Amino acid sequence: MAITGLFLISFLIVHLLGNLQLLDLSIEGQEKFNAYAKFMTSFPLIKIVSYFLYASILFHAVDGIVLVMQNRKARPERYKSWKPNNNSIWASRNMGLLGTIILAFIIMHMGQFWYQMHWGEIGVDAQGNKDLATVVIKTYQDGTAGMIIVALYVISMAAIGFHLWHGFASAFQTFGLNHKRYNPIIEKLGYGISVLIPLAYAFIPVFILMAKN
Ligand code: HEM
Repeated sequence: MAITGLFLISFLIVHLLGNLQLLDLSIEGQEKFNAYAKFMTSFPLIKIVSYFLYASILFHAVDGIVLVMQNRKARPERYKSWKPNNNSIWASRNMGLLGTIILAFIIMHMGQFWYQMHWGEIGVDAQGNKDLATVVIKTYQDGTAGMIIVALYVISMAAIGFHLWHGFASAFQTFGLNHKRYNPIIEKLGYGISVLIPLAYAFIPVFILMAKN
């Protein structure tokens, strides 16, 4: 869980940097994004990394479900007195729920963009690249359906934030990297990442929706 989790966080950072290009809604900006999407889906080394990515998402999800089931089995009876907030935070006890929301988001999201990019019938821009930017913009600006999708994105980003809030430091703990001097740095880094990454992600669809004329 820790290895795939940290790999998925590194994907989140790279994917975010690429997506931030969508904030430039000019024709040139959109063409730049389309050229970038073409590169990301055709450069052989990146293709190999993306197969690792799909495998990591599946492994992380399946192993997470197995862990939740093992935890339940280990303690079939509920505690008589249960004051969980005394020694654990809400996110740490609900990683399975948060992960399920994120998995549902990824399935919706890949259907909307990734599937379209690979197999959908989408137009091409003036440079001859598949016009993925228009697909993304239309998805978020599509009237009421667009608003619902943007809301789902924002909710899912909140789930990612809570998942990372516990998950980041927890991955280091799993590796045995537990040291008085470094723990506060790791924790602070984790908290920073879990706030900044989801906020930046959520900003993109909200911005595109607001830019509708
Ligand atoms: C504002 C938010 C986001 C936007 C605008 C966005 C946009 C896109 C687009 C356009 C693609 C298709 C490009 C391609 O096939 O290479 C894509 C693929 C993908 N996205 Fe996102 N994304 C967002 C957030 C996220 C988040 C938060 C996650 C993970 C939790 C995620 C996971 C993925 C995955 C796994 C793929 C497939 C990547 C691949 O084939 O290499 N995305 N995204």
